[in-house]
Amino acid sequence: MASLPTLLQLLLCFLPFLATAQKVLPIGFSRQRHSAHSAHSAVQRRTTTYSQIINNNLTGGGYYAEVSVGTPPQTVNLILDTGSSDLWVLDSHADLCSSQKLQAYYGNCLATFDPDDSSTYVNLPRADFSIQYVDGSGAQGNYFKDTLHVGTANITSLQMGLAENTTINSGLMGVGFATNEAAKTPYPNIIDLFASQDLIAKQVYSLYLDDLNAETGTILFGGMDTEKFIGELSIIDIQPDSQTGNYTSFTVTLDSLAITASNGTATNFTQVPLPVVLDSGTTLSYLPSSVAENIFDAFGAVDDTLSGGTGLVYVDCDYLSNSQDLTFDFRFDAEDGPLIRVPIDEIVLDNVEDYEQLGLRVPQLPFDHVCSFGIQSSSGVYLLGDTFLRSAYVVYDLTDKNIGLAQANLNSTKTNILEISSAIPSVTGVASQVSASQTATITPGNGDGGLPTVTTTASPSSGAGDTTDSAAPRGVPAPKWEPAFVMAVSGMFAFMGAGLLAL
Ligand SMILES: *[C@@H]1O[C@H](CO)[C@@H](O)[C@H](O)[C@H]1NC(C)=O
Ligand SMILES: *[C@@H]1O[C@H](CO)[C@@H](O)[C@H](O)[C@H]1NC(C)=O
Ligand SMILES: *[C@@H]1O[C@H](CO)[C@@H](O)[C@H](O)[C@H]1NC(C)=O
Ligand SMILES: *[C@@H]1O[C@H](CO)[C@@H](O)[C@H](O)[C@H]1NC(C)=O
Ligand SMILES: *[C@@H]1O[C@H](CO)[C@@H](O)[C@H](O)[C@H]1NC(C)=O
Ligand SMILES: *[C@@H]1O[C@H](CO)[C@@H](O)[C@H](O)[C@H]1NC(C)=O
Ligand SMILES: *[C@@H]1O[C@H](CO)[C@@H](O)[C@H](O)[C@H]1NC(C)=O
Repeated sequence: MASLPTLLQLLLCFLPFLATAQKVLPIGFSRQRHSAHSAHSAVQRRTTTYSQIINNNLTGGGYYAEVSVGTPPQTVNLILDTGSSDLWVLDSHADLCSSQKLQAYYGNCLATFDPDDSSTYVNLPRADFSIQYVDGSGAQGNYFKDTLHVGTANITSLQMGLAENTTINSGLMGVGFATNEAAKTPYPNIIDLFASQDLIAKQVYSLYLDDLNAETGTILFGGMDTEKFIGELSIIDIQPDSQTGNYTSFTVTLDSLAITASNGTATNFTQVPLPVVLDSGTTLSYLPSSVAENIFDAFGAVDDTLSGGTGLVYVDCDYLSNSQDLTFDFRFDAEDGPLIRVPIDEIVLDNVEDYEQLGLRVPQLPFDHVCSFGIQSSSGVYLLGDTFLRSAYVVYDLTDKNIGLAQANLNSTKTNILEISSAIPSVTGVASQVSASQTATITPGNGDGGLPTVTTTASPSSGAGDTTDSAAPRGVPAPKWEPAFVMAVSGMFAFMGAGLLAL
């Protein structure tokens, strides 16, 4: 059973300051059809695909990739994050990892990296590493270069952050655009090197989180797996930052969100198309308050995320047993764009009792069996996190700035991998969701039910915005960040579980 510190740890929503995602300016661009191979020399090695398992750590609130760094390889566990772009590891001498007091609050350090034990380690003495998250958590140290072993690929001389001071108990693998790096001087990140070292043909990968109760998902670098999705894979555009025109995040256009009942009745909850960021490092999903509040009303859900609250939106668990066929239908791009149906049991999460055992005090509510809601209200940046992403198969094409999107085929045990070397092919996956009998060989989840799904995700803060209340809960030793390092937190903190942090 997890301890209170673990709860607090998993509630640290390291949400990115995504200044870029505010508004969508539809800027057209032509899809590049040429193969990435054409730019390479004749002596290149043959590209292929690399599959890396990601562990659905319900208590850790995220998907962790077990990879290794250095020579000989040292194993580390990194949160997989499409919402940020730096890969960093915990130094074995990091302040958190050598302080019982800090670990009692932030959680025990997961595997660390010791540079002294790696013969291929190269320190980058003048490259300060500093990444800050919306809730005030973050990591600081130095950049270095070393070999990263991910899947069966060895990426050499990858620049990574080495955290000396951290309030997060694991490292993080940011797989976003290099333009979103925390570093002052941009550098080729993991996805850039995957392609430039000719391991994969272009900057592309696919993400399959699988069922909420599945133990693992997969990130597939360089390709896609047609057994893991249903029907046609649709290709939509990533939207650039409206201010600079740069591509910095996986922002796509959500054309509409409707909730459909089993009798076919649909209720449309969106008024206008919305820019939303596909963010695997965020556990819940965040929609504009105008949309979220109408949804809460429709479900009689109680929003307790306001200041002083517990940070959760509560809903009657009866929706799990009585309305199983309700689906949240996310339509992207245009009226005839791809549709992802998220079943109610991926949105109504039966995890509140677990929280209560960890110390949560649920407010007075008009229902007995209390669940939490996988959608919350946001005043700025709209994020589709794991509560959405589990229902989707998503191909991220950073070279051509496209997203391939299809309904996920949950609990699939088969594979049919296609390498992607030019534009994402609009191929067809399986015909329908695999049946329960086919899933019998799957190891069930950890039995905790739909758990601690609260936010993660990291991204560099730009330093803009106001410095909100300290992220540190009352009565807990706050880490002593250097003043310059205490970056501003955006207004997001207010809706990202501040109350829970004050447990
Ligand atoms: C899951 O995350 C928790 C909290 O960070 C950690 O203590 C635990 O070791 C992780 N479990 C696995 C299997 O990685
Ligand atoms: C950063 O961590 C180091 C140990 O790794 C510690 O000596 C130092 O005091 C920490 N700095 C701050 C500002 O907490
Ligand atoms: C990758 O690194 C591992 C560990 O050092 C090594 O055993 C393996 O041979 C390397 N693979 C390639 C293709 O270089
Ligand atoms: C963003 O775009 C501007 C202008 O187009 C350019 O000068 C700048 O270097 C870009 N920033 C990044 C991080 O690529
Ligand atoms: C369909 O179901 C919804 C929700 O259960 C209900 O409100 C609606 O009246 C039903 N519509 C029809 C036509 O039966
Ligand atoms: C929902 O309403 C918006 C605005 O009226 C519209 O653009 C969208 O197509 C509607 N979606 C559905 C599924 O009806
Ligand atoms: C997938 O497997 C999990 C764990 O066995 C199960 O709880 C879930 O209902 C399955 N999902 C589907 C869609 O079959």
